[in-house]
Amino acid sequence: MIYLDNAATSFPKPSEVYRAMDEFFRERAANPGRAGYRLSMEAEREIEMTRKALAEFFGARDTQRLVFTLNATDAINMAIKGLLKPGDHVITTYLEHNAVTRPLNSLEKQGVITISRVRPSPQGFIGPGDIEKAVTPKTRLIAIVHASNVLGTVQPLRAIGQLARERDLIFLIDAAQSAGLWPINVEEQCIDLLAFTGHKALFGPPGTGGLYVSERVELRPWREGGTGVDSQNPVQPKEMPYRLEGGTPNFVGLVGLKAGVEFVSRMGIHNIQRHGQGLIHHLFHCLEDDKRFILYGPPSTENRSPILSLNINGMEPQVVGTILDESFGIAVRSGLHCAPGTHRETGSFPQGTLRISTGFFNTEDDIAQVALALKEIASSERVTA
Ligand SMILES: Cc1ncc(COP(=O)(O)O)c(C=O)c1O
Repeated sequence: MIYLDNAATSFPKPSEVYRAMDEFFRERAANPGRAGYRLSMEAEREIEMTRKALAEFFGARDTQRLVFTLNATDAINMAIKGLLKPGDHVITTYLEHNAVTRPLNSLEKQGVITISRVRPSPQGFIGPGDIEKAVTPKTRLIAIVHASNVLGTVQPLRAIGQLARERDLIFLIDAAQSAGLWPINVEEQCIDLLAFTGHKALFGPPGTGGLYVSERVELRPWREGGTGVDSQNPVQPKEMPYRLEGGTPNFVGLVGLKAGVEFVSRMGIHNIQRHGQGLIHHLFHCLEDDKRFILYGPPSTENRSPILSLNINGMEPQVVGTILDESFGIAVRSGLHCAPGTHRETGSFPQGTLRISTGFFNTEDDIAQVALALKEIASSERVTA
């Protein structure tokens, strides 16, 4: 099996991730910090080391403002629902994943907020000038995806972040696709709320993720419960990270996430990025002159994550995906990838695209095989239109 669905979740993980989780789960997995005994305190230390590793990775000064969540969706909900109040205006884009659009749309439907949605360029980039034009006196939040999960396009965070700071707006980034692949520094890029997931390019297990919350933002907790500290308090403590971390964390997963972040640091984020971009560049050049294929997104790998969305003229992407799986042993994702707005912008709605997303463990040979398979499918009599 050739796995090319790393934008959905990275697979396989580095062996140290499996090893760290297995050892911890078998030998030391007491509930962290909830009791005074040594095993529990050791588990708490592991969690705090994960928090520190992630805070450093994202350039956050205050480790305690990095909150663990279940995934990026959880972090984005925590940010949006904990921040916005009646009358607020939000600027977002047509490139967003449902993790951003759905919570915003539901608040809009309830009449709580208003939204302006910024169009991307035909290749999938957002212009800071277009964001600026959408600012109104009621604007509170700019919420954008860093790397599109359909086109791979990476947005200019620093320029948009500086604009947000100048206008005293809160800047929320959906880094589900970029954390671990693109350098992120919350201070330099003026990010107030950074939502990330653990199971994609950070190589952690599912059920891990986080939200960095800058000192400029105070969120209402949307999940309240036990924290293991300040237990006499009838309501959620004010102190971070406990304010936003009710309930037992996925501590086994977090140990795996720490091993994943350390793997990224050891390999070097730029090396990982170059490897992925090289593979996508290769695939792009195998297919770009073949008129049977429609390739989406920019023609170069500059500011692009290792994702290529495509269609074969006259074929449903779901059909191509099934043939790749059943006849060639190649796993890719087909459909809308939870980002219908992007497909409306690029003309691939409602059928969506076939999305090929490489990972650190893919090789040139994997790409050669998927290119060959796609050409064979494109020339078969299965093509109907
Ligand atoms: C751009 C983007 N945002 C958010 C998410 C949601 O991530 P998770 O499912 O880990 O919550 C994804 C997942 O594919 C994504 O690609």
